[in-house]
Amino acid sequence: MQNLDKNGVVELNGQATVTLDTRELKPGFGVEIMNVDLASADEETLKAIIDTFHRNGVMLIRNQHLTPDELSAFTASFGELESNILKQFTVPDHPEIYILSNKVVDGKPIGAHFDGVTWHTDATYLERPAMTTLLYGIEVPPEEGDTLIADAVGAFNALPMETKTKIDGLQVLHSYRYFTETREYGRRQLTEQEKLDTPDVVHPLIRKHPVDGRKALFLSTGAMQRVLGMPDEEGRALIKKLADFVTQDRFIYRHKWQVGDILMWDDRCTVHRATFYDDKKYTRVMYRLWVKGDRPF
Ligand SMILES: [Fe+2]
Repeated sequence: MQNLDKNGVVELNGQATVTLDTRELKPGFGVEIMNVDLASADEETLKAIIDTFHRNGVMLIRNQHLTPDELSAFTASFGELESNILKQFTVPDHPEIYILSNKVVDGKPIGAHFDGVTWHTDATYLERPAMTTLLYGIEVPPEEGDTLIADAVGAFNALPMETKTKIDGLQVLHSYRYFTETREYGRRQLTEQEKLDTPDVVHPLIRKHPVDGRKALFLSTGAMQRVLGMPDEEGRALIKKLADFVTQDRFIYRHKWQVGDILMWDDRCTVHRATFYDDKKYTRVMYRLWVKGDRPF
């Protein structure tokens, strides 16, 4: 990986070859890259964008015009694309592109609606949870429907030392079944085949970022069933306390959507949620892609 400073300067063989036009999304967290056209970006620009992503938790690129092929190709430059457990809301011929929408065409919803409205991290019920989530705004309401992203590194650093010591080394059971059967929206029982396809997994409560070792709280309130070695209630109370801490305003970037926005967050060091919008008055269509991550450590 190239060296890159916070201003987005990539150094290859000691020479800065590409300078991206960047600014922080909020002090100390997140980055916006300006004046790039992803449909025509050259390889060096793409490398600089990838490096910027790995170091900033959340990355915004506005005013993009990408076909599904171009969107998938751009996302695949970060790593292997994850296909979705649910197939019914994907773009035709693109099982890796999941549609989030309230639109109904020919009597059928075209996408998942009000997905992810509680604080979570994507796909933590997998052995290799998502590394990054990309959302692309196709149609967005003029108000509300913001996406909130919390800085789990900044929050970890701000924890009292006593709490850091208490939670050091704790392991948590994440369960797709628990997530699906207890969630507030879209709650349902899994089929026997789905249960076989999605065995429970154990992940550390604190994880290290594989690129630079920064530590983050690894939280996903819906999928975390229990803390190993702790009574269920005590474990859930601990998870809630940590989730409440991470999701304080001071750690949150609130994204207000425009058509053409590409928003990517690093699921290894953030927690996120969707918010509601007036779905009787407005329509929304977003594309979501996941890149596979590594096993958390
Ligand atoms: Fe999500």
